[in-house]
Amino acid sequence: MTTPTPAATPARPRVLTGDRPTGALHLGHLAGSLQNRVRLQDEAELFVLLADVQALTDHFDRPEQVRENVLAVALDYLAAGLDPQKATCVVQSAVPELAELTVYFLNLVTVSHLRQNPTVKAEIAQKGYGEAIPAGFFVYPVSQAADIAAFGATLVPVGDDQLPMLEQTREIVRRFNALYAPVLAEPQAQLSRVPRLPGLDGQAKMSKSLGNAIALGDSADEVARKVMGMYTDPGHLRASDPGRVEGNPVFTFLDAFDPDPARVQALKDQYRAGGLGDVKVKKHLIDVLNGVLAPIRTRRAEYERDPDAVLRFVTEGTARGREVAAQTLGQVRRALRLFEH
Ligand code: TRP
Repeated sequence: MTTPTPAATPARPRVLTGDRPTGALHLGHLAGSLQNRVRLQDEAELFVLLADVQALTDHFDRPEQVRENVLAVALDYLAAGLDPQKATCVVQSAVPELAELTVYFLNLVTVSHLRQNPTVKAEIAQKGYGEAIPAGFFVYPVSQAADIAAFGATLVPVGDDQLPMLEQTREIVRRFNALYAPVLAEPQAQLSRVPRLPGLDGQAKMSKSLGNAIALGDSADEVARKVMGMYTDPGHLRASDPGRVEGNPVFTFLDAFDPDPARVQALKDQYRAGGLGDVKVKKHLIDVLNGVLAPIRTRRAEYERDPDAVLRFVTEGTARGREVAAQTLGQVRRALRLFEH
């Protein structure tokens, strides 16, 4: 599919989303972004980036882990319902134009501005880098700006932690267009309406590395075992006691995944009043989650029998992504008055 329009002005909104392939995707990804992507693939031109170069910025000492997860995450995408006919899956490292654009963009930001990025600040503290911050990690918001601009994305779905990245991208794009030539599209953030899914332990975030996640690939038995061990209201000792719904991840999960909100409301009312045991709510949650995961398991099994189809999803998507990025970089180089070779 080649179109005569420049990469920066597509007819449908062009959407870029992405993940660092460092581990299996889980229910937090499903609620926070995958379900939205499955909807978006029908309304927009959806690009999904397997951000392995970005993953190396904090996993440079674990390259095998990143390599293994490129195809594992691609399989998660297909299992979750991304359609190779509709969505374009791109491996970041196979598009060197992204690295090139990052270099040009680095001239348009200051170190002091990068230091103020609240998400990067929080990650630096959490990873305990102290003063020894890897430079590549420090500048990853610039590389992310290059991803967005190179693909000409006009819409980027984000959680609130990614909003500073979008603001940074918009600033860089505006500076580039004003300094050189107006060739880059300025992206809009599409803020997720879904609150972040907590972990099984009630921590603010579900994360594989925190060991509090249900992976999309978990079996029905694993889901049952994990839900039975979930944190609930520690003050709710007997079924007859009144219980707390707020901050109780069992109910947050039901809010996120039960297709029947009236039923969830009734369970909440009963739990608050007393007379509803944790085991009973958890059994209901197990049914709900296995209902959501059943079609995902079926598609996963189909693709596991056809690994070539997974490979094609990634290689054909990457070829298409590279075409788009190369077109943008042609315009970028002309705008920068670079030597034509
Ligand atoms: N930073 C994103 C994450 O950690 C991954 C990512 C890389 C991305 N490049 C992107 C997301 C471009 C959206 C657009 O999940």
